[in-house]
Amino acid sequence: MKSLIVYSSQSENTKKLADTIYKNLEGEKDIFPVDAAPSTKGYDLTFVGFWLMAGKPDPKSSEFLTKLGKDDRLFLFATHGAKAGSDHVKNAVAHATGLTNGSYIAGVFTCQGEVNPKVLEKVKQKPEPPVWIGDADQAVGHPNEDDLIALKKMITEL
Ligand SMILES: Cc1cc2nc3c(=O)[nH]c(=O)nc-3n(C[C@H](O)[C@H](O)[C@H](O)COP(=O)(O)O)c2cc1C
Repeated sequence: MKSLIVYSSQSENTKKLADTIYKNLEGEKDIFPVDAAPSTKGYDLTFVGFWLMAGKPDPKSSEFLTKLGKDDRLFLFATHGAKAGSDHVKNAVAHATGLTNGSYIAGVFTCQGEVNPKVLEKVKQKPEPPVWIGDADQAVGHPNEDDLIALKKMITEL
């Protein structure tokens, strides 16, 4: 099996997930930041990693997802300030899936990712801070060892 890993990461959280996937994947594999992503043609499975921004995949990942079609089998992975399993995250994953042109989603993994403290302070001071900010304190230290172990387990069971 030939796999492609494409990720976007501003503060390295999502990159940690991408590197963990790369390390634990069997078979032929390539890894690229989204800016340098090649065509998915010839790959059996494409892992797409993004971070959440305004409740959606970050803009670069969103653009990449729109280029994918019915022939692409995807594994989505993401980090976010919001609590794992929250509606905020579920909606964002659904949004990511909807950006593709009918790609098959073979798996999804998400976990919290520590929010850049400067961004966090700024967002907290907004007159109406977004709901996810209430979970951001619990994101400190994530992705942690347990997150990476859980991801590794999913990858080795694929
Ligand atoms: C500008 C900005 C907007 C963000 N918006 C959201 C959001 O809407 N929902 C959320 O859960 N987390 C949000 N976050 C938190 C990031 O998604 C989270 O910290 C993520 O792990 C960052 O990933 P990275 O280190 O790979 O860049 C935001 C962070 C930034 C910097």
